[in-house]
Amino acid sequence: MVLSRPQENPMKSLSFVSLLFVGLIVGVHGHGVDFYTKECPEARGIVQSTVVAAIKKNVDSAGALWNLHYHDCFVRGCDGSILLDSSHYGPAEKDSGVPDSPKEIAYDIIDEIKYAVEKVCPVTVSCADILTLAARDAIVELGGPEWKVCSGRLDGFISYANESKFYMPGPSADYQTLVQKFALKGLTEMDMVVLSGAHTIGKVKCSVIESSLYNSSGPCGVDPTLDPTYAMELKAQCPIGSSNLVFLDPTGDDTSVNGSSPPPYPGHRRLLATRSAGNTVDKNYYVRVSGKNAKTGRATSTNQNLKVRNSKGTLRSDRNLMSTKSGKALVYREAGFSKKDLASAADKENQPFFNDLVKSMEKLSTLKDPSSPGGEVRCNCRSINL
Ligand code: HEM
Ligand SMILES: *[C@@H]1O[C@H](CO)[C@@H](O)[C@H](O)[C@H]1NC(C)=O
Ligand SMILES: *[C@@H]1O[C@H](CO)[C@@H](O)[C@H](O)[C@H]1NC(C)=O
Ligand SMILES: *[C@@H]1O[C@H](CO)[C@@H](O)[C@H](O)[C@H]1NC(C)=O
Repeated sequence: MVLSRPQENPMKSLSFVSLLFVGLIVGVHGHGVDFYTKECPEARGIVQSTVVAAIKKNVDSAGALWNLHYHDCFVRGCDGSILLDSSHYGPAEKDSGVPDSPKEIAYDIIDEIKYAVEKVCPVTVSCADILTLAARDAIVELGGPEWKVCSGRLDGFISYANESKFYMPGPSADYQTLVQKFALKGLTEMDMVVLSGAHTIGKVKCSVIESSLYNSSGPCGVDPTLDPTYAMELKAQCPIGSSNLVFLDPTGDDTSVNGSSPPPYPGHRRLLATRSAGNTVDKNYYVRVSGKNAKTGRATSTNQNLKVRNSKGTLRSDRNLMSTKSGKALVYREAGFSKKDLASAADKENQPFFNDLVKSMEKLSTLKDPSSPGGEVRCNCRSINL
């Protein structure tokens, strides 16, 4: 049983003339929101229903898919290069060992979708498109905004581990480095701050944050940019040497576990009640990173005698968004702290974050690498066609 995507129905009401026009400007290979409507009308529904089922089974699937999509697009554009296994040409992107390497569960979901799609439309839908659609559907499922994903990406032939190491910013990157890494991809400082908001869901391995908790320059070895109370919570979940995972943003819609609560903001279309604390796409990540109380706009630290910034960003890179004037202004914007109406931050509309996120995700998900040679529709997402 395949779920339909109600928000795409308006496409059907587009006039024949405008569809024809879109067809002319994008060329015969077919791109655009309507592409698979013709080539493989089932594709989008299969992607969505598989993603929804995977999240229902394990809510960690959503963050893993979003992270996988980002890693794909940051190296050679969104061309499925992250999905390729290492070969005799050497280690592939997925084996680069970068600290934020996507989790295995996401690759398995892509394989599952590909298998289902191949049965219906053999060698028609690229792995790159599947991943892009899957990430969007996962974000929507956890309460995020919706946007249209154009199809027509081709799967690339090249995947080098060293390119992941070069292009992916590390978890303790400073602000300038973050801006630079995004600029290499044609993304702005604002895109960087807005896309960091992806850390509103998902989990980080304790090993990645251990040095911020135990081996930094602040009191008790805690990183001085990290809120001391939150640091204590994190230490409890991450004893030294732990292989646990902790939420990047532990807050969220924990009243919706059984689906009985109303949608959290007007117009939201809840598909399934899969959201819970730590697994809700919302602007609260920015409220935490800012270190301010959403209602009063005051610093939240319990330890005012220390020169702490009070940030509850889990990664050093998250907290570093507060390290420059412009970064701080963007965090306040996304948190909803407008000077004229601070109280608006307490509401649930998640604006302007959701509108900004849609714009930046549209840029991220259409990144292309003009220097990559051609492309194909892979039969198996893990290897190029022979
Ligand atoms: C700004 C630079 C960024 C840095 C330094 C960074 C770093 C990290 C790190 C270290 C993790 C934890 C991974 C683990 O322990 O397994 C992580 C997780 C994650 N990142 Fe980022 N990231 C950045 C930007 C982004 C962007 C742009 C996106 C998406 C648009 C994104 C999406 C995610 C998601 C969804 C997770 C959770 C993964 C999961 O739960 O499986 N990140 N990131
Ligand atoms: C990665 O390795 C390839 C082949 O070994 C090399 O041609 C390329 O310049 C390297 N790229 C980066 C970004 O280090
Ligand atoms: C703490 O950091 C220092 C310098 O970065 C390093 O040499 C040392 O091994 C670290 N200690 C622990 C316990 O991780
Ligand atoms: C489900 O919702 C009802 C009504 O709001 C609530 O009483 C109940 O505790 C909830 N169950 C779970 C498992 O959250």
